[in-house]
Amino acid sequence: MGFSSTLGLMSPLVSPLTSMSGTVLLWVLLVPVLAAQTLNGARQDTALEPGIPVTDPLVKAKCGTCHPADEHGNMDRISWVRTTPEGWQEAIKKMILEKRVELTPVEARSMVQYLSSSHGLAPEEAKPVMYYPERRVHDEIGVANDYPLAACAKCHAAARLLSWRRSADEWKRLGEEHFAQYKVARNETAMAAVRNAAPLHTPEWTDWSARSHASNLTGRWLVTAHLPGHGRYFGELQVERGATPDEFNTRATLHSINDGSTVIRIGQMLLFSGYAWRGRSHGVAPSNSSTHPDDPGHDAREVLWISPDQTTGEGRWFWGQYQEFGFDVVLRRASPGITLLAVDRLSLKVGAQASSLRVMGENLPTDVNAGEVSVGPGITVRRVISSTSREIVAEVEVSATAVPGKRDITLRGAVLRSALAVYDRVDYVKVTPESSMAAFGDQTYARGYQQFEAIGYQRVPDGKPHTADDLELGPMDASWSMQVFYAVDASGNDKIGNVSPAGLLTPAPRSPGGNFDIWVIATAVNERNQNGRPLAGKGYVVVTIPAYSFDGRRYVRDLDRWIEEGTW
Ligand code: HEC
Ligand code: HEC
Repeated sequence: MGFSSTLGLMSPLVSPLTSMSGTVLLWVLLVPVLAAQTLNGARQDTALEPGIPVTDPLVKAKCGTCHPADEHGNMDRISWVRTTPEGWQEAIKKMILEKRVELTPVEARSMVQYLSSSHGLAPEEAKPVMYYPERRVHDEIGVANDYPLAACAKCHAAARLLSWRRSADEWKRLGEEHFAQYKVARNETAMAAVRNAAPLHTPEWTDWSARSHASNLTGRWLVTAHLPGHGRYFGELQVERGATPDEFNTRATLHSINDGSTVIRIGQMLLFSGYAWRGRSHGVAPSNSSTHPDDPGHDAREVLWISPDQTTGEGRWFWGQYQEFGFDVVLRRASPGITLLAVDRLSLKVGAQASSLRVMGENLPTDVNAGEVSVGPGITVRRVISSTSREIVAEVEVSATAVPGKRDITLRGAVLRSALAVYDRVDYVKVTPESSMAAFGDQTYARGYQQFEAIGYQRVPDGKPHTADDLELGPMDASWSMQVFYAVDASGNDKIGNVSPAGLLTPAPRSPGGNFDIWVIATAVNERNQNGRPLAGKGYVVVTIPAYSFDGRRYVRDLDRWIEEGTW
């Protein structure tokens, strides 16, 4: 597979502020000592690309000294860029740190609120870059190969720059500033690609800015979630109004499909721009998080994308040194009709007899009979064992000639799409995440863990493994081990840490010396390949000393931690 360690020493992305323990400090301690700097450089070519006027009195008052407004209300630079709440937060922090702008936390938050709404991204523009605020492991190799942005994705995720829309002139200035500040080589091809990919004016933005962003998220939502290592959850989320129209209080009740346990989480959330949910929540039960870093009741940050019609949402509730733990969450509004939410298994084997199938949902009919539940071709529902308004248990049989593939579950007009997969053999096991990092602790930093899962696949129908059309069968029971394939100092090889039976990699509390490139290996317990040999898969992990940033091309989770603190 030809992996090599792509870690660089102390990349510039590790800001000197990384060790400061909270943004509030920054907001209040910095005194405005520098005289106002004026912006030099040519004024915007307003005829070519009209700016977006600034109407917020606070932005005008606090930023106007250096970013003067023209007769249309366009403020220099500010009116020719648009970005996400995180982007604005970053820009404002930069102004605080470098230009000594003085703001209270409340002012800063209100500015982020205003700017990310009237100088923000349309929801359609924000969706593809959500992996950045959601702090997901994201393989940027695709970007590097298919896109002239490779030069930019070297230091940070492509999503970091694609979170910005700018006029051609603003992209040019950014290029010049990057060149001066980070010694980035001038790259006209890359700059032309960004200019085209992320212009200031787009049809999506025009459309979105014309619409009302009034938010009303209050009420009851249905939730399905997946916490790697713990499996899937289903339940509900109550959203109530908070102190201001954009603030909400939340209470989530999640039931584990794996073990039936219940997690209750309460939180607060701010909605930016009508669709960008940014919040924090924590479990109500005493948390085990000191002994179990992956505890489902752990304090978490919440980043979700709400659909423009405010009926669905998706995102991640995450925590950890590298935000390595997190629920993948899907929301939909509760409705009075029958809703199918989840099923207790993700796959069924061809020829399986008398398997029981639990289907979870809302407003399910209690008088349901076997003929009304359909699991698709090749699967017969023999009988309904029990039915309540929340759960139906049925006995099903898979014909020996059933064709492998995904099946929908339907009941009286309600559908659960691609609910499970019918398969006749497991061809391979994929360890997720396929490449990632973990970190030893030290005096300053807590350890960074990594949770793995072993996902089974059947290859269909082209017969080639590892293609997008392969049939995903869900997590398999596996035994876990690790193997070092590169170490700066091999004498530490047996002191790296361990992988638990549930696939959680726990690095040693202190580094045994240097970085280690390892494979984490999963061997399926109940499945063998066609030749009767064990099925195994492996994931690539760099276990490193803390506070190293990792190469943005492959891993994007931990770009400068200080923005983490958030203005919310
Ligand atoms: C004391 C002067 C000063 C004040 C006040 C000021 N800025 Fe700036 N700003 C600058 C300068 C100078 C630049 C040019 C880039 C640089 O020098 O880093 C800049 C650049 C910018 C940019 C473009 C750079 C980028 O990364 O896209 C944005 C956006 C911006 N400022 C937003 C703001 C906002 C919002 C405020 C109010 C909270 C503000 N500025 C207040 C001086 C200031
Ligand atoms: C040598 C490393 C490096 C390369 C290569 C690089 N950047 Fe950056 N970039 C940075 C750093 C560091 C930051 C964070 C700046 C900060 O936190 O203030 C950043 C931030 C950004 C931002 C956030 C907005 C802002 O004003 O800070 C954008 C947009 C961006 N880069 C675009 C690009 C583009 C486009 C390219 C390719 C032409 C590129 N970068 C290549 C290091 C790099």
